[in-house]
Amino acid sequence: MVVEIKDKNLYYVGGVVRDEILGVPSLDTDFCYEGNAIDFARAKGFEIVRENPDFGTVRVLIDNKEVDIASTRTEIYPKKGHLPIVDNIGCALRDDLARRDFTINAMAKNTVTGEIIDYFGGLEDIKNKKIKVLHSDSFIDDPTRIIRALKFAVRFGFKLDDATKKLQDEYLSKINYDMSYHRLKKELKETFNLNNAEVYHNFVKQSIYKLLGPEQAVQPCNFEVIDFIREVNPENIWLVYAGLYNLTRLELTKTEQEIIDNFNLIKNIKPESEYDIYCLFKNCPVESILMYAFAVDFTVVKIFFKSLKNIRLELTGDDICELGIKPGEIYRKIFDYLFEQKILGLLQTKEDELEAVRSKFLCG
Ligand code: CTP
Repeated sequence: MVVEIKDKNLYYVGGVVRDEILGVPSLDTDFCYEGNAIDFARAKGFEIVRENPDFGTVRVLIDNKEVDIASTRTEIYPKKGHLPIVDNIGCALRDDLARRDFTINAMAKNTVTGEIIDYFGGLEDIKNKKIKVLHSDSFIDDPTRIIRALKFAVRFGFKLDDATKKLQDEYLSKINYDMSYHRLKKELKETFNLNNAEVYHNFVKQSIYKLLGPEQAVQPCNFEVIDFIREVNPENIWLVYAGLYNLTRLELTKTEQEIIDNFNLIKNIKPESEYDIYCLFKNCPVESILMYAFAVDFTVVKIFFKSLKNIRLELTGDDICELGIKPGEIYRKIFDYLFEQKILGLLQTKEDELEAVRSKFLCG
């Protein structure tokens, strides 16, 4: 456990308990106080950074670290698929654990006694490597749990329990598209950012892509391309996979939208020469090029990365100016020509490039 605070009513909860049992490092430490966490933090005299009485959460500063403590609470979903509203702050720990996504995430550990509280069989499911929901409405309440199940399954090498898989299939066969796409995007990013072939394979095989909206065109899994994507490891990995689908329901950032737009611009173009390939990809974000590899043609992308991407000319604009050519539109033509010649293997040295400019643009 990364941060330690002790109280008989205070528990580590969720991912941090699961990760400790699994013996893997935790991304964060979640605390849950059985009762009102804000009153608890005040009574303990903790330095309070922020209070959120509507959710019963409090952020405190301990050993110079910001730590969140949540009150036990129940939640209700007045609008299925959207954010729940908090119902009962300070409820029994059992009720708080019962609102959670999977049995493996619904355990608590007492901060004083170290006792593991496991009402729903989380320990057994960890032992059997199973992802299991707590109740049959879990995916209806929160469809993003379908992506979360995929994320945890791949991260830990677990499988969906049969009944949970059945509930997932049932939900995906009649999705209610009125859901929080903000949450869906967050989970999609985390899941695809694992950059793992199994994520995409199951995203397609289990029809999870259906969450993104109706009438999606399926892009079959290609393990060879995924190996390549893993090697390149671009910043917005998630979009290389998710962007193959219609994402109009997600709110994209400007950069993300540019990646999609660039892919849409190039996806119907079939380059016929190495120079065509170079021109097609030279100004594209790497993610758009990888999407092209996945959905259109991997071979040309391999050629681009292997022998074209790093091609550099020796000549600069100054060198061309020294030849007596006035700066203007002609410079673009000159550089295009030089790149073409270089790609064809006809230019080796700076002198070759100068000579090529002289003979093409200065003779006659
Ligand atoms: N949770 C949930 N339903 C969700 C999201 C979260 O029930 N849609 C609960 C789970 O109990 C989860 C906890 O809130 O363990 C914290 O959520 P989060 O930080 O997203 O997940 P972690 O389990 O901590 O996993 P990670 O290691 O990815 O942070």
